[in-house]
Amino acid sequence: MVQASSPQTIAISALEQQASIFKSNAITDLFNENSKRFEQFSINASSWFLDYSKQNINEEALNSLIAWANESDLSTAINAMFSGEKINHTENRAVLHTILRAKKDQQAMVLSPEECAEIELANSKMQELCSSLHTGDYLGATGKPISDVIAVGIGGSYYGGKVAQEALKPYQQDKVKVHYLANIDGSAIAEKLAPLNPETTVILIISKTFTTQETLLNATSCRSWLQTRLPDYDLSDHFIAVSSNVEKAVEFGVSSENVLPMWDWVGGRFSLWSAVGLPLAISIGYGNFEQLRAGARSMDKHFQNADFRHNMPVLMALLGIWNINFLGYNSLTTLPYDHSLRALPGYLQQLDMESNGKQVNHDGEIVTMKTAPIVFGQEGTNGQHAFMQLMHQSNEVVPADFIVSLNSNSDYHYHHTMLVANCFAQSEALMKGKSLEDARAELKSKGLSDEDVERLAPHKVMPGDSPSNTLVVDNLTPKALGALLALYEHKIFVQGIMWQLNSFDQWGVELGKELGQSILAVMGGESNDNLSASTQGLIDKFLAKKS
Ligand code: F6P
Repeated sequence: MVQASSPQTIAISALEQQASIFKSNAITDLFNENSKRFEQFSINASSWFLDYSKQNINEEALNSLIAWANESDLSTAINAMFSGEKINHTENRAVLHTILRAKKDQQAMVLSPEECAEIELANSKMQELCSSLHTGDYLGATGKPISDVIAVGIGGSYYGGKVAQEALKPYQQDKVKVHYLANIDGSAIAEKLAPLNPETTVILIISKTFTTQETLLNATSCRSWLQTRLPDYDLSDHFIAVSSNVEKAVEFGVSSENVLPMWDWVGGRFSLWSAVGLPLAISIGYGNFEQLRAGARSMDKHFQNADFRHNMPVLMALLGIWNINFLGYNSLTTLPYDHSLRALPGYLQQLDMESNGKQVNHDGEIVTMKTAPIVFGQEGTNGQHAFMQLMHQSNEVVPADFIVSLNSNSDYHYHHTMLVANCFAQSEALMKGKSLEDARAELKSKGLSDEDVERLAPHKVMPGDSPSNTLVVDNLTPKALGALLALYEHKIFVQGIMWQLNSFDQWGVELGKELGQSILAVMGGESNDNLSASTQGLIDKFLAKKS
């Protein structure tokens, strides 16, 4: 049996003592005690403003968290990542997504000359592709300029581009439309291919391993779609790939000169900064893609240089740990009050839960502390008509990250004002709640009888004391978005260090993939005695279906 273990330290026992006070206090009291709380518990970094004053914490507890971070040797861990040490120890790899957005002199300090040259070549290939597609010089097999690119990929080979493209709609050029295809559900590919003209469509296959079943099936079906419609043409220019497995990509039929690299020191969910970002660069232009990288670089610099008390990623990480490990809140909702960030919750689900959804530490021991939170969310104000009821009145406290831009990228300015007002109102309501006395007074003021007041008042009570962060930016530019994504990457890295996890492997997804293949074989007629009666019964139902 693996020995139980957790990073027991002096700081943790202090935190456990401090936490008991906060489980029964009111966050509003913290404001009453300190008129400068908003100023003291907020921070600017890389064009973002973080208000964490609605968190249920004080300076003393925050300092204990920082003491734990120091005892966890966080500074050494940060330097180890940025300097290319093989911190992904189960795959014996470095973790260097940050180097892809670093300046060349920084790259030369960490990477070999060959790797620097590879990055340079990949970037120039990306630039050339964007340019030739936008000028119409990139021609399809029948000599027509390309009008559409369909990016085939899933997980980290999908989410980053999808989120950023939707977030940066105002920056999209109108020459070439970029579509994303991830799920193997036939209705997804049917929907994507239906409006496209094969003569002017490029299939961009993004897969670090080039073995992901969903991506290979979608790519194969896209290839068949092209081949059946253009049977007598050389289709090689209709295929581009981004992969670390060049051999498999060429085997699939992609010309080697059309394969852009991925490196084993870039994790899938951290790979937007590489050629995985090619569909995004095609959509918003390479210059804006470089701005995205610049924003992330700015957050990297802040993360590497700011002392932990004034370090946005570190503070968000420690506040998350305080909520999870000391106040006992095991979920986290992401609430972008911004239609253009509607895909962000999904992206953060992978980034957070695939990185830290683990319970075994570096030494292979079970971590006794809770680790990654259950991350969910959706755009505001939609969430107010979905799950905010639970957040206001259930016995679960769900910490929230609100994200909002002060300026709208639409001309509907009053719509934006109402959106922002709702964002601020929700965090206030979650913190303040509504007492029984307030509920009674409210019902009395509406003229209800004493009997009805007593009957209804308990149903109107909201416990309050639900903590939240509010991240505010002037405008959601490519640079601001890059900084936001890097902020969350580093927050999750810090939490992984504190929990002593490897945040950069994902062995947990392997069993499902293997079983998927074996069940597919059973659906093809093979027998498998190892499946449960339930799964075998479901397969039988599928095989007996009436089409
Ligand atoms: O979700 C599991 C995973 O391996 C992710 O980490 C990765 O981003 C995704 O599948 C796709 O992998 P690939 O880029 O190799 O197709």
